[in-house]
Amino acid sequence: MEIKFFGMTHIIANWKDYLTPAESVKLFTRLVVWEKTHPWPKNISVTVAPSALALGVLTEKFKRTKTRISFALQDIGWAEGAYTGALSARDARALGVRTVLVGHSERRQYFGEDEKMICKKTAAALAGGLRVILCVGETKDERQSGRAVAVVRGQIESILKDSVVVAHLNRLLIAYEPRWAIGTGIPIESSEAEVMHAKIAGQVSERAAVLYGGSVTPQNVAGFIAREHTAGVLVGSASTKFTGLTGIIARAARVRV
Ligand code: PGA
Repeated sequence: MEIKFFGMTHIIANWKDYLTPAESVKLFTRLVVWEKTHPWPKNISVTVAPSALALGVLTEKFKRTKTRISFALQDIGWAEGAYTGALSARDARALGVRTVLVGHSERRQYFGEDEKMICKKTAAALAGGLRVILCVGETKDERQSGRAVAVVRGQIESILKDSVVVAHLNRLLIAYEPRWAIGTGIPIESSEAEVMHAKIAGQVSERAAVLYGGSVTPQNVAGFIAREHTAGVLVGSASTKFTGLTGIIARAARVRV
């Protein structure tokens, strides 16, 4: 069984709301210039998820630029039309964007997204032809009380109740992001992440790729992606700096050649 999702390693840069559209254009411009002299192996894919505003600007500005970096939305609604403030799969497709993050812990924690909403968003995005990066992960308390595996299992179970999701597992990636490791500079040990990744892979019958996220840097990325069930990384803060993202791609390239 091919565990590494057809051998691909995915590097997903989540720029959150760190950069304005102008700052995003500046960073992306530097990345595509760097790419020309530092091409990475075919089995590494790089995706940038800027803010929705920046995404509109970037897709327009770089539509004729030759680059292997693709774009993603950071969030999505579950329908189109009378949903003020929302974005749909149709909006993403109109910009040529094929990937969306769903259920990021910041959406769960600060925007009140629950399992039901996350399931609806995941199903709508998959039905709309997008690739979904579903984020799951436990809090510090949940890990300390030995409930991490059960919490993550429950989060995945709730989206597997939807037949649309089950029918499109080949377009689902699951990012395991322990909440206590996000933005703290303290990642989980790669061996511990791998234990969770193997359990997640088993739960989805190895039909969806599993990524790690939470304080990934150029210094620690190799330790994660060298693991059998870790098909890539979801990177926040380090990916918003030129040296951070290029450093991560360069290290990954050395592991994956
Ligand atoms: P971080 O964020 O890399 O800044 O810890 C990861 C994420 O939130 O996806």
